[in-house]
Amino acid sequence: MLKYAMIGGGPGAFVGSVHRNALALNGDAKLVAGCFSRDLEKTRAIGAELGLAEDRLYATPEEMARLEAGDVDFAVIVTSNEAHYPSVKTCLANGIHVMCDKPFTVTSAQAEELVGMARDSELVLAVTYTYAGYPMVRQAREMIERGDLGEIRFVNCEYPQGWLAEMLETTGHTQATWRADPKRSGGVLSLGDVGTHVEYLVPFVTGLNLTRLAARLDTLVEGRLLDDNGTILTEYDTGARGMYWYSQAATGCVNELKLRIYGDKGGLEWFQEDPDHLHYTPIGQPKQTIVRGAPEMLPGAMAYSHTPAGHPEGWLQAFANIYTAFCATIEHGAAPDFPTGEDGLRGVRFIEACVESSRNGTSWIDF
Ligand SMILES: NC(=O)c1ccc[n+]([C@@H]2O[C@H](COP(=O)([O-])OP(=O)(O)OC[C@H]3O[C@@H](n4cnc5c(N)ncnc54)[C@H](O)[C@@H]3O)[C@@H](O)[C@H]2O)c1
Repeated sequence: MLKYAMIGGGPGAFVGSVHRNALALNGDAKLVAGCFSRDLEKTRAIGAELGLAEDRLYATPEEMARLEAGDVDFAVIVTSNEAHYPSVKTCLANGIHVMCDKPFTVTSAQAEELVGMARDSELVLAVTYTYAGYPMVRQAREMIERGDLGEIRFVNCEYPQGWLAEMLETTGHTQATWRADPKRSGGVLSLGDVGTHVEYLVPFVTGLNLTRLAARLDTLVEGRLLDDNGTILTEYDTGARGMYWYSQAATGCVNELKLRIYGDKGGLEWFQEDPDHLHYTPIGQPKQTIVRGAPEMLPGAMAYSHTPAGHPEGWLQAFANIYTAFCATIEHGAAPDFPTGEDGLRGVRFIEACVESSRNGTSWIDF
């Protein structure tokens, strides 16, 4: 079993414990060290809960990376966005493979530097675009690869949430406070938080490469400093077109990521809140629902399915699937089958392009 260290994911944190549980789910790696917070006492408190040795709990990511070099196989970065870059950098500089959460960094210059460091030192660098880990997302990808949709004409992807429909950031809410702070989030709020998942998911499933976009970023909640809603028109290398909508001010939406793809032979729909079902409509035929775990699933997708059909899987298994692929690359040099640092870099460039377009009156920007 591989050994890993974690940066971020301290007491009360949201996603750190999800990463820890996902890594435990498939038995891929064991947590042995951490710098879970900027506050050493908090790191010690959670380290004790997790049963870690006291001398493997650190005050700073830099100290951890220096002293754990050679003793851990990889590090997981689950801090607020502004701390991704220095945390990833210190791990790579000390020869430690890295899994970082999204958005990868707050500027594309930072992301380029990190991707270059990983490449030069032959280290594995990955980003947890979680939705790549869902079996039915993989099924959609394989169906498109084998031509079930024909030529793709249009892609519609939306990711609305409603939890920031009020000024939560002024109430002391931890996750809202840093996400809405331009200095900590990276100059965008919801575009980085949920819009980047859309940016990753569409090319991952369809194979389309984005060539142009026109974005309008909105701030719907009065007093907020950053975007909480956005609409993006897209064009791809094949001539296909698309439309993205992301929001965190869509009252009534919980986590409603929806992907719809339309080709000249058929259409596909996948809804994150109903993740075990993929809806496929060949032109001129009734809609079919493909169920995760059923025999008609394609082999690559089936490899990501763990429980029998009708026994739901979800977010945690998706994280675990990404980690299993990541660990296989570290352990046996398996071909990378997870979102990479390059994907993270593209996501940050996408953010920058959307901001530029929106500032220029939703002008078209080459991507
Ligand atoms: N992949 C996904 O689906 C997904 C879901 C949620 C969050 N995220 C991403 O995960 C990251 C964390 O989000 P969250 O909601 O868990 O945030 P959070 O505020 O709940 O947790 C962040 C943790 O990082 C710690 N931290 C911050 N700076 C640090 C530093 N320099 N050294 C050590 N620890 C530090 C904080 O103390 C806290 O414990 C964000 O980048 C977010 O975009 C991804």
